[in-house]
Amino acid sequence: MSPRHLSITGGTPLKGEVRVSGAKNAATKELVASLLTSEPVTLTNVPNIGDVEVTLAMLKHLGAKVTRTGGRVTVHASKLKTFAVTEAFSRKNRIPILLLGPLLARFGKAKIPALGGCKIGARPVDFHVEALRKMGATIDCNGVYVASAPDGLKGAVIELPFPSVGATENVMLAAVLAKGTTVIQNAAVEPEIVDLAKLLQGMGAIISLDVNRTWVIEGVESLHGAKHRVIPDRIEAASFAVAAAVTGGDVTIKDAQQEDMLSFLNALRRVGVPFDVQEDGIRVRGPARLDATTLETDVHPGFMTDWQQPFVMLLTQAEGVSIVHETVYENRFGYAEALARMGANIQLHKECLGSKACRYKNKNQRHSAVIVGPTPLVAANIDIPDLRAGFSYLIAALIAQGTSKITGIEHVERGYENILGKLRRLGAKVKVT
Ligand code: EPU
Repeated sequence: MSPRHLSITGGTPLKGEVRVSGAKNAATKELVASLLTSEPVTLTNVPNIGDVEVTLAMLKHLGAKVTRTGGRVTVHASKLKTFAVTEAFSRKNRIPILLLGPLLARFGKAKIPALGGCKIGARPVDFHVEALRKMGATIDCNGVYVASAPDGLKGAVIELPFPSVGATENVMLAAVLAKGTTVIQNAAVEPEIVDLAKLLQGMGAIISLDVNRTWVIEGVESLHGAKHRVIPDRIEAASFAVAAAVTGGDVTIKDAQQEDMLSFLNALRRVGVPFDVQEDGIRVRGPARLDATTLETDVHPGFMTDWQQPFVMLLTQAEGVSIVHETVYENRFGYAEALARMGANIQLHKECLGSKACRYKNKNQRHSAVIVGPTPLVAANIDIPDLRAGFSYLIAALIAQGTSKITGIEHVERGYENILGKLRRLGAKVKVT
């Protein structure tokens, strides 16, 4: 397929209604969880995005039967034919490593190629590997992870060095069928993980969230089929909220969930963006003036790292000096360079410019940003490097003077369903050639 070129002409306020799709970072993990039973698992509200495509292709390759009608996907993994994920699935996204637990449970062994995903830092999987070793797996890695647990995995007490989303999910997926009880301390508690736990409980798992970021999972003999609705995507919701605010628009974001977005909504309020929480969504309007702010990304319930890129985009239009301290990834401001070419004033710093020092103190990583605004933006030619940065560029182009030419839209389509259609329905001037 020849690369598509996108033209976006800025200057139109976004107006109307948009419905957010199911969350990528819940749906993909829940599809993996469906391998833990030989009975059918049906998920609804599954987004039609690149990362779901890749995950389904991987499940089929392993031998699962997949049926899909719109957002309804049934995975029936009655018989799996291989425990080895081939190279073809390597470096596409972060999902394959999560297959370790289910494949060890089904086969007592697993072979997983190296990982892909956005280039936003080193993104190692040492916590995953250490935790599964503690549960009795032998894991070697030489470009390919080769794991075995011939006598099955056993429960263990695992304290994660950092509340990693992927490591928490991996241990959870491995623990539901392990012998005995697994305790994950200092675990991630993101809404997408709670959603995964809800599916697993629906499949027969015994799983609870205790105080102090602790998951307790009592292994069971087997799991059964279930039906589950994937939670709405709070990253997509926040991205549209920023697009509405910064274009001076008025958008009702259907299905946006207040309880999963508290820290984002607080940040919107601090910079002066009016919003109303409604029964089935959140309405966001463009303010007369945006105020600068300081914020720090953090694990849930903090301000999530995936909201950082659209929010920095918003801050380029705020009056005064804003500071954003990224504490989850060491290298997630790569997109600032293209925004600077469009006229934004963003300086990156290696120091922790937040209220507390983070893991990247003295690590020589540019993980704090100082944004001086407001700066008018002008159209540019942009090649999208990754998913979340990609949406920020789209928002930048929506307010820039002139027509921006954008390539690499497939990175955005990995994670946002029908993104161009949704933007057009809100009045954005978007053309694809
Ligand atoms: N980390 C380690 N060792 C590990 C695992 C993680 O050092 O074994 C570090 C990472 O390098 C990173 C931090 O811990 O600095 C957090 O990583 P985490 O494991 O929480 O992230 P992830 O599971 O790889 C998921 C989402 C990301 C999202 C993060 C943080 C998926 C598929 N990806 O990644 O989403 O930013 O959690 O919330 O769920 C995206 O959707 O665009 C995206 C990047």
